[in-house]
Amino acid sequence: MATPSLLNMKIAFVGKGGSGKTTLSSLFIRHLAAARVPVIAVDADINQHLGVALGMDEAEAAALPAMGAHLPLIKDYLRGGNARIPSVETMIKTTPPGEGSRLLRICEDNPVYDACARPVALDDGAVRLLATGPFTESDLGVACYHSKVGAVELCLNHLVDGRGEYVVVDMTAGSDSFASGLFTRFDMTFLVAEPTRKGVAVYRQYQEYARDFGVPLKVIGNKVQGPDDLAYLRAEVGEDLLVCVGHSDWVRTVEKGRPAPFALLEEANRRALGTLHDTADAAYEHRDWERYTRQMVHFHLKNAESWGNAKTGADLAAQVDPAFVLFEGAAATPQPA
Ligand SMILES: Nc1ncnc2c1ncn2[C@@H]1O[C@H](COP(=O)(O)OP(=O)(O)OP(=O)(O)O)[C@@H](O)[C@H]1O
Ligand SMILES: [Mg+2]
Repeated sequence: MATPSLLNMKIAFVGKGGSGKTTLSSLFIRHLAAARVPVIAVDADINQHLGVALGMDEAEAAALPAMGAHLPLIKDYLRGGNARIPSVETMIKTTPPGEGSRLLRICEDNPVYDACARPVALDDGAVRLLATGPFTESDLGVACYHSKVGAVELCLNHLVDGRGEYVVVDMTAGSDSFASGLFTRFDMTFLVAEPTRKGVAVYRQYQEYARDFGVPLKVIGNKVQGPDDLAYLRAEVGEDLLVCVGHSDWVRTVEKGRPAPFALLEEANRRALGTLHDTADAAYEHRDWERYTRQMVHFHLKNAESWGNAKTGADLAAQVDPAFVLFEGAAATPQPA
């Protein structure tokens, strides 16, 4: 078991459309940057808003490279010298790393980041932003459909530990991530819920999957206006309710195109972000390497059988390296130059 000081946290923000996923992701990213924590921010929504929420102007955000458009490069790099993956064409979004694969680290330069990541300057240092991009048929590569976020899943499955580092993913509103294994790739999933029946319904759906797969899930109440809103969420969500965020004038000001220093964010909301940070850090101690690797293989075999084998004409089960355990085994894996 790694020590808690080796924190490479993968955090997802999910929830109903319009609940505040992008807003809370961006606030959390700003909070981490202010705490001098290295962050990779990932916009995994097809409607790309995270860049703008982090202060990019529309033109900069529109010019972000789409990971989907760089799938061949991403696959070729990650495949490295893995003899179980003879060609890019046979690599699908769930193909797990094995001996010879190249792995990604948060604080490094590599061809994947060169092609896909762009720096975003914040008040307190910069973060790297990756975006899945809008998906077109031609982006999909030979065998990566069913999911708009295949490139993100591939990258997360090839990401290894560094010290005190975070990946924060603003996820798509739909349940796309259940078809693949993407929703199992996070140390903590923050479900953003407004105090409404629809907000809570998305939580219940997510909760079922999370329970079945042992995925840590906490609810952040958003746009919570008073005691009745709070009581409603408490009654519906129970112990999974972590913290509530109210209406933020700071957020509204920034939405009006008037940049405001992050230090001026309301005190109550700053405290809420601190709670998210503490909760995420604490979740790391419960990370289960064995589950993580087992689920990676489980979803790969499921995808291979349901469409991957037919699509690639190969037996993709053969890509599984039975001796490989991501993270713990990763350091011992020979890395091709
Ligand atoms: N706590 C808050 N205070 C003030 N405004 C907020 C707050 N949370 C969200 N908003 C506003 O609500 C709107 C929707 O939020 P946001 O875009 O973050 O939701 P989303 O879940 O990412 O939506 P989508 O599903 O479309 O991606 C935005 O205009 C945002 O500025
Ligand atoms: Mg959004």
